Amino acid sequence: MNVRLPRVRPAVATSVAGEAPFDTAVQSRHPVETPLLEVRHLSATYEERRTRLPVLVDLSLTTADGEFLALIGPSGCGKSTLLDVIAGLIEPDQGEVRLHGVPTAAAQRLGRSAYMPQRDLLLPWRTTLANAALALEVAGVKRRQARAVARERFAEFGLAGFEGVYPAQLSGGMRQRVAFLRTVLTGRSLLLLDEPFGALDALTRTAMQAWLVGLWERERQAVLLVTHDVDEAVFLADRVLVLSARPGTVVHEERVALPRPRRRSLVAEPTFGNHRTQILDALGLLGERTDR
Ligand SMILES: Nc1ncnc2c1ncn2[C@@H]1O[C@H](COP(=O)(O)OP(=O)(O)OP(=O)(O)O)[C@@H](O)[C@H]1O
Ligand SMILES: [Mg+2]
Repeated sequence: MNVRLPRVRPAVATSVAGEAPFDTAVQSRHPVETPLLEVRHLSATYEERRTRLPVLVDLSLTTADGEFLALIGPSGCGKSTLLDVIAGLIEPDQGEVRLHGVPTAAAQRLGRSAYMPQRDLLLPWRTTLANAALALEVAGVKRRQARAVARERFAEFGLAGFEGVYPAQLSGGMRQRVAFLRTVLTGRSLLLLDEPFGALDALTRTAMQAWLVGLWERERQAVLLVTHDVDEAVFLADRVLVLSARPGTVVHEERVALPRPRRRSLVAEPTFGNHRTQILDALGLLGERTDR
């Protein structure tokens, strides 16, 4: 079955309508070795008028609970489409997506993960605090309570004192942190982050990576992070999956053997350099492949 798309993007960073998020009670009923997320032999095709555009083909991956997985691949290879499928916004034509070992239809995945799409999608007419609390409010939490919960975490997200300002008055890095806060506040144990730092300058990006790795090392939610930046992937992730050009499929898996907590000084380590080389090679950016 092909997908005919209206590309549906959620109106807010998370899609929450009426679906139960993962919670510890649910997780504890499953054996620990069951992966949080399994994508099996997934294929997706966009069909417009009479043109078929295969975007993903036979793509498989798994994510353990609490794992940080990075996805890297050329522009247009289907990374955002993959996150859309996992979030339940698109039904693939083939393959399946399992959550805690249970096969799911797209509609059943809506609201099960916290999705931060490629653009931060802050609402310009809402204050920083109101934007941060939005996903909770959409999930049915009373406005006052949602905002109180959000307000408590403003300092941790480097936003203290900016509760009452509007997105246009924030820097790019701050906007991203508001979007992160909104995503994290859902309490879901799977975060889907689509190039969260793509629009930031190099210095802000480096600072935000350090900030995110610190946040993750405290919270340990499972993360699927899409990035174009090899160093970002190695610095943040436990594993990096390299995707081929469209139609995207996994062509390489790199297990990152760097200690945690991650420190910026690790980028100078030979291990870091080796991982970078392997990934660049898998991306075909070092000339001839050495392992094929
Ligand atoms: N709604 C849509 N209808 C038809 N084709 C689409 C639609 N959305 C994306 N595509 C096409 O599908 C392919 C994959 O798009 P996708 O956004 O998933 O790529 P990506 O890997 O996220 O790219 P980037 O790294 O540039 O964000 C592209 O060729 C794109 O033009
Ligand atoms: Mg994309």
